[in-house]
Amino acid sequence: MVNLVDFEKKLQEKIRKADEIIRSYLPEPKGFSRKIIEAMNYSMTAGGKRIRPILMFESYQMFGGNKSVIEPFMAAIEMIHTQSLIHDDLPAIDNALYRRGRKTTHAVYGEAMGILSGDALLNYAYETAMQALFYLDDTDRSIQAMQILAEKTGIYGMIGGQSVDVENEKNDKQVLDKELLDYIYLNKTATLLEIPLMIGAVLGGAGKKEISCMEQIGTKVGLAFQIQDDILDVTSTIEELGKTIFSDEQNYKTTYVTLLGTKEASRRVESLTKDAVHLLEMLPGEKEFLSQLFLYLAFRKK
Ligand code: IPE
Ligand code: IPE
Ligand code: MG
Ligand code: MG
Ligand code: MG
Repeated sequence: MVNLVDFEKKLQEKIRKADEIIRSYLPEPKGFSRKIIEAMNYSMTAGGKRIRPILMFESYQMFGGNKSVIEPFMAAIEMIHTQSLIHDDLPAIDNALYRRGRKTTHAVYGEAMGILSGDALLNYAYETAMQALFYLDDTDRSIQAMQILAEKTGIYGMIGGQSVDVENEKNDKQVLDKELLDYIYLNKTATLLEIPLMIGAVLGGAGKKEISCMEQIGTKVGLAFQIQDDILDVTSTIEELGKTIFSDEQNYKTTYVTLLGTKEASRRVESLTKDAVHLLEMLPGEKEFLSQLFLYLAFRKK
């Protein structure tokens, strides 16, 4: 039986550590371009859950990693994730005004700065991850990690998924079929959970099969994560969630909730999470916290 108080305490400590690492890699606002740097840092320091860097760190430790080469990658994945949110909130995409308990970046800095600070953050993520290449013991593995980071973020990953998502919204006559919806979820969301689990494994010294198993775990946890996000969009409040609610309805999106209803969607979250925990159990290493984290994400309220 999971002791929830113990788990929450550990999670808070891990969030604090991840946050400290992330902040240490943020650019300093100075010079003529200080405004864009302020806009980048505005969202980066707004207090997201830091789930992706924590997943990366846990996966790294699970495979025996204990060096700081993981840190630039932890910061980089949070930069990419935050960039995806800044652009997701733009008027041309989900047109949202609240994020992470504050006004969205474009609402504060204007649309042009919203676009540019997102571009800048995406680029800065690679500038940051590249620093890992200077850790000489780990060069080959860092290159492999860079490749995973880049590929799963672009057209064969997050951006591909976001593009199909916007292409198919405001299309209320034609409900998306499940195959297309799965393509969207697997790419726009699951990729950014596969990346940290895989990079942690790569840098921790895992073998090919183990890396592929971590990818499959990320796929399941990622799909569950997006379905739970859809559920919260219709069941939570702006205060609790810290972001715009009923966003999917406003944008005429087909989601797992519109397709199956919240009850069946919740069942799907649970069964995907169980599958992920089961796969994790087959791998070596200390993974108690990680499996508790998967369950926590499935039942999260924000
Ligand atoms: C929100 O991600 C976007 C989705 C993929 C559903 P998070 O729920 O991890 O957002 P933050 O980082 O905590 O703000
Ligand atoms: C966003 O999905 C996924 C990415 C930003 C890549 P959503 O549009 O559902 O995310 P929220 O609900 O705005 O956080
Ligand atoms: Mg969206
Ligand atoms: Mg959105
Ligand atoms: Mg959402």
